[in-house]
Amino acid sequence: MNFVKVDSYEKLSRMGADIIAAQIILKPNCVLGLATGSSPLGIYANLIEDNKNGKIDFSNVTSINLDEYLGLTGDNDQSYRYFMDHNLFNHVNIKKENTFVPNAVANDIEKECKEYDQRILDKGGIDIQLLGIGLDGHIGFNEPDTCFTKETHTVTLDESTIVANARFFEKEEDVPRQAVTLGMGGIMQAKKVLLIASGKEKEEIVEKAFFGPITPEVPASILQLHPDVTVIFSK
Ligand code: GLP
Repeated sequence: MNFVKVDSYEKLSRMGADIIAAQIILKPNCVLGLATGSSPLGIYANLIEDNKNGKIDFSNVTSINLDEYLGLTGDNDQSYRYFMDHNLFNHVNIKKENTFVPNAVANDIEKECKEYDQRILDKGGIDIQLLGIGLDGHIGFNEPDTCFTKETHTVTLDESTIVANARFFEKEEDVPRQAVTLGMGGIMQAKKVLLIASGKEKEEIVEKAFFGPITPEVPASILQLHPDVTVIFSK
């Protein structure tokens, strides 16, 4: 594991964007595993800039997002599809048809989950997976549990996740209680993983996840078993 500490969110964002930009330069038709939340916003802003400056070209890039709130359509401004469109996709030259977010309003969610995993395989796997980390150690929406779930699946969100994510909603009751998330198999098969975390409140969980025991009670701890992980942390 490559653990990098930087002294500002701006540096974290530039470094993270550089790693993703390098991936796109090395393999223009790469598959990016993308994440939502506040942590990646700086990376996305830098990637938009890099695309505008002609440094990177998204025209052959595919993106696969980690998760989506169950029951939200892409035009709902709280959905992760909306988040991705507005914070990245609408501002770079990626082809919309090459961007994938779980369809959390599908009639048959189980089928959607299976197809999501199959799509990743069909695309040759994720080249680099960008991850944030929840305060309880969740990645995507893989919450603390007694076992790691391998496939894309539906989850019930932990109370602490609902409270943490309520900041994006008008009121806590509005936060969906369930979501669809890529499983640990999907995340672990990515060729490279880049996890970013910033802020003093994340320090303890980052320490537990990367320097503590590997346990499904701290979902991100499984990344210690991944052969190519970079963690960038800023206070
Ligand atoms: C949500 C997302 C996660 C993200 C987490 C942390 O729960 N599903 O993918 O990592 O929030 O978000 P933030 O970066 O805003 O702290």
